[in-house]
Amino acid sequence: MPTNILVIYYSQTGQLKNIIDHVFSSTHSCNIDYCEIKPVKKFPFPWTSATFFDCMPECVQQIPEEIEPLVFPDKKYDVVILGYQPWFLSPSIPINSFLQSKYAEILKGKEVITIIGSRNMWLHAQEKVKEVLIKQGAKLRGNIVFFDRNPNLISILTVIRWSFKGIKEATRYLPEAGVQQRDIELANRFGSIILKAIEGNKLDDLHKNLLNEKSVELSPALVILEKRGIANFRKFSKYILAKGNRGDAQRQARVKLFSKLLIIGVFILSPISSLTAKIKVMLNKKSLEAEVDYFKNITFKIKAI
Ligand SMILES: Cc1cc2nc3c(=O)[nH]c(=O)nc-3n(C[C@H](O)[C@H](O)[C@H](O)COP(=O)(O)O)c2cc1C
Repeated sequence: MPTNILVIYYSQTGQLKNIIDHVFSSTHSCNIDYCEIKPVKKFPFPWTSATFFDCMPECVQQIPEEIEPLVFPDKKYDVVILGYQPWFLSPSIPINSFLQSKYAEILKGKEVITIIGSRNMWLHAQEKVKEVLIKQGAKLRGNIVFFDRNPNLISILTVIRWSFKGIKEATRYLPEAGVQQRDIELANRFGSIILKAIEGNKLDDLHKNLLNEKSVELSPALVILEKRGIANFRKFSKYILAKGNRGDAQRQARVKLFSKLLIIGVFILSPISSLTAKIKVMLNKKSLEAEVDYFKNITFKIKAI
């Protein structure tokens, strides 16, 4: 019987779909069915500043929205791939909406591999996904993270240019936005490892084998920055939600305040923040190494972040 893989994904610009296609570009002997999550209320691209920052509370508090009905082929799947992206350090609204919908019942009893297409901050999102997978009775067998290798501030600038102007290509002073083309082109090594694990009935070793091929790379400083970020987002999301839901006019003043503070935090306080993170890394080397190890792996610990 051929190997059957179901890919459930969302991709706004097509970057993540392109990544997944490359992961499976050399696994010709298996059958892959794709199932795209489509939100009923579409997210505009390019974004406006208002629509972009207005998403934060619903992302962070994991408030689902309606998605179009999903129909899965009636097959026995060896593995389900969940392809997703973080938005505001949390699973994107379309992915969270799927995970909380009746369609997520498909995950019950399934072996799941997550493929993340991010800027570089995905830790909290993955913790939330791990938690839901456990609730849905699925077993997480592997995780592969694609991220932008540029320095943090450069990747923020290029993602802003991409999100608000739709320009992904390199411009005079800034590189191309998103995951590097070279990393996407080399992604097929992961597909071969996945197929080998399924065919050899060795999914227990899968994540270890993926890690050997650098499926997850993580610097300790990013753990510190992400922890600080999500703590602030949690507070601000409640403050904004107290004035209404996504799109409501009454909350826009608070959304604007959030966007301004975030921009100050990122561009003005960022050098200080990066410096204090570096000092913390030096002082807490051992405990941070243990945290990096945890986030690179697929086990789940409540409130790890
Ligand atoms: C609203 C929004 C928020 C985002 N927040 C994050 C984030 O917190 N961490 C991160 O690494 N990337 C973040 N990104 C980048 C996305 O994870 C993703 O890499 C990019 O949007 C391309 O994904 P696509 O395949 O859906 O087009 C964000 C993007 C958007 C549109």
